[in-house]
This record gives sequence, C-alpha cells and structure tokens, in this order.
Amino acid sequence: MGTRKLNILFVASEVVPFAKTGGLADVAGALPKALKALGHNIIVVMPRYYKIDPSKLTKLESPLGVPMGAMGELWAGVYTSTLSGNNVPIYFIDHERYFGRGGLYEDHDGSYEDNGNRFVFFSKAALQLCKMLSFTPDIIHANDWHTAIVPLLAKTRFVHDFANAKSVLTIHNLQHQGHFHKNLMDLMEVGWEHFNAREFESFNGVNLLKGGIMHADAITTVSKKYADEIQTREFGFGLEGHIRAHSEKLFGILNGVDYDEWNPSVDNLIAQKFDVGDMDGKLTCKHDIQRHFNLEVRDDVPLIGFVGRFAEQKGISLIAGIIHGLLDMDIQIVMLGAGEKWAEEFFSDVATHRSNFGLHVGYSDALAHSIEAASDMFLMPSLFEPCGLNQIYSLRYGTLPIVRATGGLDDTIQNFDEDHEHGNGFKFFDATQEALYYTVLWAVNIYKNDKKSFLDMQERAMKQHFGWDDSAKSYEAVYNYILGFEAEKPSV
Ligand code: ADP
Ligand code: GLC
Repeated sequence: MGTRKLNILFVASEVVPFAKTGGLADVAGALPKALKALGHNIIVVMPRYYKIDPSKLTKLESPLGVPMGAMGELWAGVYTSTLSGNNVPIYFIDHERYFGRGGLYEDHDGSYEDNGNRFVFFSKAALQLCKMLSFTPDIIHANDWHTAIVPLLAKTRFVHDFANAKSVLTIHNLQHQGHFHKNLMDLMEVGWEHFNAREFESFNGVNLLKGGIMHADAITTVSKKYADEIQTREFGFGLEGHIRAHSEKLFGILNGVDYDEWNPSVDNLIAQKFDVGDMDGKLTCKHDIQRHFNLEVRDDVPLIGFVGRFAEQKGISLIAGIIHGLLDMDIQIVMLGAGEKWAEEFFSDVATHRSNFGLHVGYSDALAHSIEAASDMFLMPSLFEPCGLNQIYSLRYGTLPIVRATGGLDDTIQNFDEDHEHGNGFKFFDATQEALYYTVLWAVNIYKNDKKSFLDMQERAMKQHFGWDDSAKSYEAVYNYILGFEAEKPSV
C-alpha cells in the first residue's frame, strides 16, 4: 500500500459498464478500482452519452458552466453513480447538443465533425466539475486524444485551482491523435502561443494528442514493447520524433484483467462455468457456440475464435487473405466484430459459402464471452497492438492465442517451445499472410497431433495472472515520482 493517499481525477471518454467501443473502456472501468484498493481517493469522469439511461443515475442539483470561447458559457448537467465492486464515484457530463446522439465518436457517415468541440467541452467540464465538488486532485490522469488537452488546461486556465496537481496522459492507441481545424485553439482557450510545432500544431491544424504529450508530466502507454515501438517510424504515426523528444517521461505499464468480469469460473454469460482442473464446461461452451453458429457439433475439431474491431490494426486483411485456405482444413472459425464495411461484407460472404465458418457482425458482450470460453484458439494477428486485452482474457479461458509479435501481444504471449514444454500461445513475426497461415497450421497440428503439449500449455495459460493490482502499483509509482515524493525514476 502506498504511503500517501492521493486525490486522483481520472478522465476518459468511455468506461465499462456504461459505454464501450474498445479496450479503453475496460481499462477505465477497472484501473480506478484498483487504485482505490491501494488507498487512493479517486473519481472518474466521462460523458453522459445518449444511450446511458439517466434514470439509473443520480442527478446533481446544480448544473455546470463550461467556458467555450466565443460561444460563451455552455451549461452541462451532471449525473453520478459508482463503479460496482469498489464504490469509486463516477460523474457523467450531460450536454444534449454534444452527447445526445447514438454513437460515441461516429455514426454511419463516419466521425462526427464536431468531435474536437465535443471533447474540448468535456475536458473543460471535468476540471470545472472538480471545482464544483471542491475536489482538489494531486493527480490528473487523462486518456487518449479525447482528454489530452486536460494537462495544459490544468496548467493555464485552471492554474489557480490546480496549482499543485501533476498530470499523466495514457496513450492507448497512437493511431488516433485528434486532428482538427486550427480554429479549435479558440475554443481550447489556452492561448495561441501554444499553436506551434512543438505543441499542438501539425499540418497547420491542431493535434490534441501531440500537445498532450508535450504538457503531461508523465506519459504512459499500455505495454513496454509498445512504449519502445512508438518511438520508431513504423509505429509512430508521425509522432515518433515528438515522443522520442519526451521519452524521459514515458513509461510502459501493461494493462490488467478484471477477473470479476473475465473468468470462466464465475462468468454468467457462458453456457457452463469451468476452471483449470474442471474443464467439462469448456466443451459444453464449445458445443453451445457450434450450435449458435450452425456449425457441426463436434468435440475434436479445432475451433478458432476472433473478437475485435474490424479495423486494419487488427490484421483483418491478413485474415481475409487466407480465410478460404484455412477453411479448407478440418477446422472451424467464428468471428465477432464490426467496423470497416468491406470487411463486414467480405466475411458475410464467406459465412454464406462456408459451413465451418460462423460470423456475427455487431457488438455483443455476451457473445464475446461465449467465444472466449468456447474456442480452442484465439486469433489476433494485429499489425500493431498497444496492449490488447482479448489475448489476455483468452489465457484465462484456456483459449490459446495465435498472435503477431507486436506491442502487448509480444509482451504477454510466449511462443510454444516444443522441446522445452514452454509457452502460452503461438506467435509469428512478419505481418504477412504466409506467416499467419503457417502459424495457424502449426497450432492446429499441435492441437490434433500433440494433445499433451496442447493441454499442458492450456493449463499453464489458465494459471497465469494479469491482475490490475500490479499495474495499479506501477501507476502509483509514476504518480509519486512526478509529485516529487519519490526521487528515483520508477523502473516500471
Ligand atoms: P481495442 O481497444 O484496440 O479494440 P482491446 O483488445 O484492448 O482492443 O479491447 C477490445 C475490447 O472490446 C475487448 O474487451 C473485446 O472483447 C471488446 N470487443 C471488441 N469488439 C467487440 C464486439 N464486436 N463485441 C463485443 N465486444 C467486443
Ligand atoms: C487501445 C489499444 C489496445 C489496448 C486498449 C486499452 O484501444 O488498441 O491494444 O488494449 O487501448 O489500453
């Protein structure tokens, strides 16, 4: 337990169980609970999207005034609730014009055009809320481009209120940087002097993440490997030089797993619970998913699962390129995902032609759990992967990951070593269809012809632990360091 109790403001654009498009929400729903368990006083703030039912929340009496440049002061309602399990207070910023719509960031026509305005508004509202609550944070923890302006806001517009606060910006995905027209500077109200190539300026527009990297007292990202990768041209999305210039304050802290949510021994969303030493339920889950997708119900056929956004990041083109070749073998593949239209159409077409392929286009938490539980192997051939959560969930469900060696996938998956009975999955290095194809073939071969090695590996995987407790301690060490409570730079 840390020696000092810190006041922490945690701001994020999505938080489980209230709104989720990806792993950021899992992290924002779990890390604050783990920090609270270390003794800290933490509050979480997120937008009240349209689909979050206000009747399940408590409304605060007074509304919040949020300064928005020439638009004057805009008013926001504030709701509150708690994150289950550990009573972390969470506040919701309610504003019909910005958040009263179906999607979080986009709809069918693409990203919302006013995303810059929406999240500058949200960022300011989060700080304004602290004032209203008389909550004086020691640490302000922002996440991704949506809230990347918060560190500078705290040092400029809100400096009198947060004079002693230090800030952390966690990068969950460098691909999304928040590029907007330069006029956004007027709404940010931090002064045009910050519009320059070292801060927010990029291609004559505003790059929110870039400015956030400059102004946060510490930058973290979600695996050690990714912390190295983003300093290179291949993974830097144009910010590699900028990040290298700030590498002194960059830390890689692996995400954890919320084992209350992702654990086959307590999971209510799967057909039958199971655990290491009591694996009958896994077979029941396999049959359940085979029936769900109208596949042949069989014990001995290798079932490979995929759950994730249909985005290039996730290696969907690699999968698309070899799927027919894979399906010519005696295997079954099930996929759950949504995103790029071409991929939704392509895999739908595969589903109509192949009897050993199941597809659900859309978002379904229950199905995500069922696929994790049912599959023998999990496919995650990402081109880049800051951390990746599904491969870590897979381990707990005894579903051996087949991954590309990048970012958090490389940090969490050790390759199967036939000679030394070592490893928890199957890993390939080149982002090519051949490499993926032969790695799946290898995994299928071990499944079919070396059952003992497969089962041993499954047992090793299920016994691994990636709890949030360790990660929270690493964040705590970074907090204490930037606050000057620890002189030595933490080696997290
Ligand atoms: P990313 O954040 O890049 O999307 P992660 O692996 O960190 O990748 O986290 C993705 C999270 O979103 C996981 O919890 C995964 O189960 C969930 N997820 C992704 N796509 C879907 C979907 N179509 N239905 C249900 N859950 C999904
Ligand atoms: C991002 C990354 C993913 C990571 C998640 C949570 O969306 O793509 O790799 O696990 O954030 O940090």
